[in-house]
Amino acid sequence: MVDISFFGNHKALKGTLTVPGDKSISHRSLIFGAIANGTTVIKGLLRGDDCLHTLACFKQLGVDIQDDGDTITIHGNGLDGLNESERILDVGNSGTTIRLLMGLLSARPFYSVFIGDDSIHRRPMDRIIKPLEQMGGQLHGRKNNRYVPITVVGQPLKPTEYTLPVASAQIKSAIILAALQTKGVTKLTEPAKSRDHTERMLKAFGGHIEIEGTTYLVEGPQNLTGTTIQVPGDISSAAFFIVGGLITPGSELTIQSVGVNPTRIGLLKVLEAMGADVTLSNEREWNNEPVADIIVRYSKLKGTTISGDLIPQLIDEIPIIALLATQADGETVIKDAEELKVKETNRIDTTVDELSKLGADIRGTDDGMTIHGHPGKPLKGGHVHSYGDHRIGMMLAIAGQLSTEPVIVEEAEAISVSFPSFETKLKQSQS
Ligand code: S3P
Repeated sequence: MVDISFFGNHKALKGTLTVPGDKSISHRSLIFGAIANGTTVIKGLLRGDDCLHTLACFKQLGVDIQDDGDTITIHGNGLDGLNESERILDVGNSGTTIRLLMGLLSARPFYSVFIGDDSIHRRPMDRIIKPLEQMGGQLHGRKNNRYVPITVVGQPLKPTEYTLPVASAQIKSAIILAALQTKGVTKLTEPAKSRDHTERMLKAFGGHIEIEGTTYLVEGPQNLTGTTIQVPGDISSAAFFIVGGLITPGSELTIQSVGVNPTRIGLLKVLEAMGADVTLSNEREWNNEPVADIIVRYSKLKGTTISGDLIPQLIDEIPIIALLATQADGETVIKDAEELKVKETNRIDTTVDELSKLGADIRGTDDGMTIHGHPGKPLKGGHVHSYGDHRIGMMLAIAGQLSTEPVIVEEAEAISVSFPSFETKLKQSQS
């Protein structure tokens, strides 16, 4: 366990930077590359712990993956190129790895076992097992099929119709990966639109999916063909620098080549409502994914309400939005965000508890939190805990921009799950 001290001492954040590759897109590029026929080349893959666990799982499943330190090359042999792993598949802290691979492997003709870290062992997996069971899948988990360790006895599945209980790209993607291998049409409906990287990447690999609003039709079986993927920067990682720039007087930052997929830009919509000076430039597309440079300047902000269908578009950004709201004039209310309770930590509790320690005026609710902002009022320093949650760790590090004393983040090594170069980039940006 590593403690790291963050103390920006109100130094403006300046300059131009890039952030590591999008985590969701990186996972999917490895998954589709592994099950496609032919060569897939991935540039800009996030080399965070989560994606490295996905990569290691596919190596264990017998996929030929070369890494020259810059580019990943996968020599795929289609779905039949996957073979039973002699050993347990360890997903570390990665919910995306386990949930998407549960869907994928439920239709492969072999046996798989998954474990992960303490956090993964507390996160619900029944949300994946239920729809796969409806397709005839055989998956088993601890506590009535809810928790890891999970075993999967892969076999042919049958198509189904399923309505997701929550808007979740992980559930949607697990079912799509099973449906791609299943003869017939599988129909999915989600209550609100979750991130659509699986759908976009499926098309980039020559696959097809019909999308009508929040209903998806997948006809299987499908054969995919390897391609070249350039992974855009992760807006969820850029979010820490965006907020750091907005709350530290004098800041002006350009974050280059960030993914601005419409299902991921809830943060940008909220920032507009709060009066933030954030603009996009150099807009373009990489493998069906919109990309732009994001320019951020210190801004005077006002509180807002965040709820409903916007929540899935910014679910991972809520901890850093809470920090931002401490500096906005008036009240910020976040509701309809119960899903926060089943992330890497219960992010309602960890955000509220740790920001309270730093003197923030914040209160947890059943489905979110309420923050009373005090523009210009510094936070306190002291010991706070990431609880092993990368996004809580980075949010607390950014709080150190405004603190009167250093913010010492316990278990700060968790940051490497999604942003290994975070501390270095933050120091480089502090003018
Ligand atoms: C992810 C989906 C989201 C998100 C997670 C990554 C993905 O989870 O919170 O960090 O890559 O599909 P849910 O789909 O469970 O909401």
